[in-house]
Amino acid sequence: MTDQNATTNEAGIPVESDAHSLTVGRDGPILLHDHYLIEKMAQFNRERVPERQPHAKGGGAFGTFEVTNDVSAYTKAAVFQPGVKTEVLVRFSTVAGERGSPDTWRDPRGFAVKFYTTEGNYDMVGNNTPVFFMRDPMKFQDFIRSQKRRADNNLRSNDMQWDFWTLSPESAHQVTWLMGDRGLPSSWRHMNGYSSHTYMWVNAEGKRFWVRYHFMTDQGSKFLTQEDGDALTGSDGDYHTRDLWNAIEDGDYPTWTLKMQIMPYEDAKDYRFNPFDLTKTISHKDYPLIEVGKMRLDKNPADYHTQIEQAAFEPSNMVPGIGPSPDKMLLGRMFSYADAHRYRIGANYNELPVNAPHATEKHSYSKDGHMRFSNPGDPVYAPNSKGGPAADVERYGEPAGWEADGEMVRAAYTLHAEDDDWGQPGTLVREVLDDAARDRLVSNTVGHLLDGVTEPVLQRAFDYWKNIDPDIGKRIEAGVREGQA
Ligand code: HEM
Repeated sequence: MTDQNATTNEAGIPVESDAHSLTVGRDGPILLHDHYLIEKMAQFNRERVPERQPHAKGGGAFGTFEVTNDVSAYTKAAVFQPGVKTEVLVRFSTVAGERGSPDTWRDPRGFAVKFYTTEGNYDMVGNNTPVFFMRDPMKFQDFIRSQKRRADNNLRSNDMQWDFWTLSPESAHQVTWLMGDRGLPSSWRHMNGYSSHTYMWVNAEGKRFWVRYHFMTDQGSKFLTQEDGDALTGSDGDYHTRDLWNAIEDGDYPTWTLKMQIMPYEDAKDYRFNPFDLTKTISHKDYPLIEVGKMRLDKNPADYHTQIEQAAFEPSNMVPGIGPSPDKMLLGRMFSYADAHRYRIGANYNELPVNAPHATEKHSYSKDGHMRFSNPGDPVYAPNSKGGPAADVERYGEPAGWEADGEMVRAAYTLHAEDDDWGQPGTLVREVLDDAARDRLVSNTVGHLLDGVTEPVLQRAFDYWKNIDPDIGKRIEAGVREGQA
């Protein structure tokens, strides 16, 4: 048996030196058969996996979700039954920056939760804002490219961002959130998380509901001013990562209360806003928040790469009692994430301990492939008469679905009574923000527009804001003109 403390190579064979390569004489050339030196260099060259396309910079932690209320009338999902406690992994992130980019750039924040449930892993992959920039997945790729870097000089460009936004008026609601305080949270602990999308819940009797998730921070919502954010960007690019890590190390465990908006299935058709349009919120007056339970993060990762960098969240991971909705963005995402993981981590990403089920076993027929380290064994096909797993159609046979028909078209959603792109952001500016928050919104936007936005994009940006709210639009235009003078 090798001494416990002796360095070995990857095959467990004791190595001859940690410090010296094999040479011909003390001063001679290095020999190709120094396999250990070559192994070290080769392993090093393969340490990185590609970073996530969006949401590359992030951090996370483990914890638990405990149900504190009885919502069994709305869902049969085991994870949301009274008193159930489930292990969770949460990853927070920025969207546009690369893996080493600062935590304090203005951006929406990702809020991805993996529940390790007894019925398989359930992923709720949301953001810290309740809406998004667009309502059709066809535009997502263009949007992300406009947020990342130019082709020629590899610089980020506010001109490119406002060009895209002002030509996509459906972005107005999310841009209003982004330019306000929510675009720069003081820490991940001090922000809410939202599903943003409407999902379906199904109860034990098969009754269906449309739902939205709201993880409300128990630490209170806090933000950074643009000046504070800029200073931290220069002094501590990992400010949010460090904050979460230190809080958990100190035993100051952050918690969130999960509350749901729940809409009866039949209401969706005639609701005043299209509930499947991701650029719209559903009024809390119409559908008040119903408490479900508490999430607590109390365990830092022991290994960032295998537990956070290789964590694979996917909106398509839904458990019985939870389903998708006709939200086209959500349906697009149900393809995109698993595809991203197969490219980024590899075909067998679900074999990694962080992605495998923790509270149940998988009984799938998939086998082999790169880096596979366990196979289900025979029989390798279904149906079979050899005792292999078979779908429990009696129990799980009903898909969480809805009725749909019509000609195949490429067209926008049917408009509901109060649907338009400017109404809800206008209400946000006038009725949700107070005077100080409105002032910060104006000042943040003026600063952003003054940083490289050119005509005709600039004029379109003024018109965009005037459509949201004439007064705010005028103030932004005046601020920019003054800044240019
Ligand atoms: C990450 C695609 C919209 C939240 C990602 C990734 C892709 C992607 C490819 C990288 C996944 C990885 O490599 O692990 C899309 C597409 C969208 C969309 C195609 C629209 C059609 C959204 C929306 C939200 C969202 C609307 C929030 C409501 C996130 C989060 C992550 C992420 C939180 C990071 C997950 C993690 O921490 O690993 N998205 N996305 N995305 N997306 Fe989206």
